[in-house]
Amino acid sequence: MVREKAAPTATSAHEAKDRFFVVIVAVFYRKSARVLIRRASPSPLSRGIFTFTESVFHSITSRIKQIVIITGASSGMGAEFARQLADEYSAKQEAAEFWLIARTEKNLERIAEDVKRDGITVRLFPMDVKGMEGVRKLAMHLGVESEVGDYRIATLVNNAGFGTYGTFEDTNMMRQLDMIDVNCTALTGICGICLPHMGAGSRIINVASLASYLPLGNFAVYAATKSYVLSFTLALRAEVQDKGISVTALCPGPVSTNFANVASNGARKEVRHGVSAKKTVAHCLRCARKGKATAIMAFKWKFKAFMSRFVSKTAGARFTYLYCKRPSQPEAGIEG
Ligand SMILES: NC(=O)c1ccc[n+]([C@@H]2O[C@H](COP(=O)([O-])OP(=O)(O)OC[C@H]3O[C@@H](n4cnc5c(N)ncnc54)[C@H](OP(=O)(O)O)[C@@H]3O)[C@@H](O)[C@H]2O)c1
Repeated sequence: MVREKAAPTATSAHEAKDRFFVVIVAVFYRKSARVLIRRASPSPLSRGIFTFTESVFHSITSRIKQIVIITGASSGMGAEFARQLADEYSAKQEAAEFWLIARTEKNLERIAEDVKRDGITVRLFPMDVKGMEGVRKLAMHLGVESEVGDYRIATLVNNAGFGTYGTFEDTNMMRQLDMIDVNCTALTGICGICLPHMGAGSRIINVASLASYLPLGNFAVYAATKSYVLSFTLALRAEVQDKGISVTALCPGPVSTNFANVASNGARKEVRHGVSAKKTVAHCLRCARKGKATAIMAFKWKFKAFMSRFVSKTAGARFTYLYCKRPSQPEAGIEG
């Protein structure tokens, strides 16, 4: 909903005074709740009071700008997150500014057209999120935003990522290190710089994978990065849940996106047995709204994740090395 500025009147001045008073009272109660939880933690009663005052504070101050950040928004699941979150905010009639991040500007522009609607503004950040440099760049944009005015990060989707098919030895080393920098370093750093701007009701969704449940031969570094994402996400969730911030790890199996094309360097165009990105993202958003720790959509994925508890990690790695070979072709022009 686009809000128009009304000319100042005596009533609106009065309303502004009332609103200012209410905000002061809310800040006071919020501070008291913080003291209470610090003294009485981990009592469930004090946690309840804290979460309640946080949400009262949020509803009073909800006029401040809400930002939704999605990394890897130029294709696949990231683009789907952008579309479906835009639907969600517009259905709730909540204004929000969407920050869409990825390297391919042309694709971002296309997705932005799908995302724009009443009350939703879109800003494009055609940038590489890789490593500390990527985190610094985004931190700089947030710093500029802080100078402009108050804002709150309502939703963060750490989705940018990629994999590589093939054995560790046969895969370009620089590419493997880049994978760690995108899948782990950027995701961790972006959570770190966004958290101070989040409060009760904010959401973080980190995209892990079904590959996070077992070491995988022919997918060694990718599976390890996604194990990291799942472990980090669950621990972060435990640390911030008392503040009313929900954190969810999305752990999908094969999804029909550009993933296989990138992972095989063009040798395999489609993800085999891939399910729809639209359904996977819709299920993930439902889980995040319910405050669930993980989102695993299909029954067969849930079954595999569950069974991984009973499979020896060494046997799993050896089995996948021997029997799960995926095509890949060497990359030209990249040293490693
Ligand atoms: N598809 C699957 O089967 C599957 C299964 C489990 C988990 N996942 C995970 O799901 C996430 C999304 O992948 P997808 O399946 O949707 O594949 P995708 O269609 O290839 O999308 C990957 C997205 O990440 C972005 N990205 C990659 N490197 C980046 C970088 N350095 N800086 C900024 N953006 C970057 C890409 O944009 P640009 O190229 O424009 O930068 C693209 O928007 C990934 O984390 C992936 O590991 C996928």
